[in-house]
Amino acid sequence: MAGGTAIPHAFGGAWTEIKLDAVSYYLECYTKALSNTSFDLWYIDAFAGTGSREAEKEIGGLFEGRPRETVIETLAGSARRALAIVPPFHDFVFIEKSRVRREALEQVRAEHADKRIEIVPGDANAALCELVRLPRWRRGTAGPVRGVVFLDPYSLQVDWATLEALAATQALDVWYLFPLRDVTRQLALDFRGIGPKEEMLDRVLGREWRELYKLDDGPKVATLPGFDLFADKEEMKREAKYKQIEAWFRGRLQSIFPYVSEPLPINTAPTRQAFSLFLAVSNPKSAATDLAAKFERYATRQNRPAASRRKSGL
Ligand SMILES: C[S@@+](CC[C@H](N)C(=O)[O-])C[C@H]1O[C@@H](n2cnc3c(N)ncnc32)[C@H](O)[C@@H]1O
Repeated sequence: MAGGTAIPHAFGGAWTEIKLDAVSYYLECYTKALSNTSFDLWYIDAFAGTGSREAEKEIGGLFEGRPRETVIETLAGSARRALAIVPPFHDFVFIEKSRVRREALEQVRAEHADKRIEIVPGDANAALCELVRLPRWRRGTAGPVRGVVFLDPYSLQVDWATLEALAATQALDVWYLFPLRDVTRQLALDFRGIGPKEEMLDRVLGREWRELYKLDDGPKVATLPGFDLFADKEEMKREAKYKQIEAWFRGRLQSIFPYVSEPLPINTAPTRQAFSLFLAVSNPKSAATDLAAKFERYATRQNRPAASRRKSGL
């Protein structure tokens, strides 16, 4: 049970615990492996919420000998889970746009007076890009510092430029809850259907998302020399389906991060995958990528789809 918060934050479902279990397990492996080194270890939660999560739970019924009822239980969110990791991280950054939720994070900070916690207001992209510009994280001038960033947006809030900035540090591991369902919805089957959403897709995916479109029965538009995207777009169609879009996005991450995990599918209903959880590691040294790959496999093995269904009772 999480510590209480005056500000309720209801989100997610059983799948949220699957996501948080995978990330928390990784964090444990990470600090254990690095705690005997001279690295200063950072945990950066860019969509921190309140630190807790309110979820509905059914209690009672025949076997408990009392009427069935639905109660609200408070569970630890990502920030509280990270604070509980042993051995501990040395520094915590919680970024949160909502003033009300930051107030709840202040309460979390007060409960952990022995920990160095910074609460940063505003948009996660702006805050992260500013943070990685600090000498501490700049490539070449970075001190003995390593960290994990958790990107846990509701939907299309993470910018491609932010992922590029994190990758450039060569010191941060990034867990990204990629909103596969919402991205797929925005990528209309017919290019003409995209209209004013082009700008938003550029922001979230980079300009390369146009690779997913091709002329009828022809090659991808990106492979056509001299193809005028703007003049000829009437003809363009998307044939890539859900899983191909997921694989394509993994390829995009692999173009900027030395290691990118297989996605952990996060299903919000038995057959409805809404998100893909990726680990992307920016440190190119094989010692770092090999270790991350090993931890990630452990972290996600028990949460792969068959296990996810068991856990969520689906
Ligand atoms: C899914 S919740 C995060 C839950 C949290 N990771 C946890 O496990 O408790 C998303 C949070 O991101 C915040 N948010 C939404 N857009 C944001 C943005 N652009 N920058 C920073 N925070 C944002 C919301 O206020 C919300 O608290």
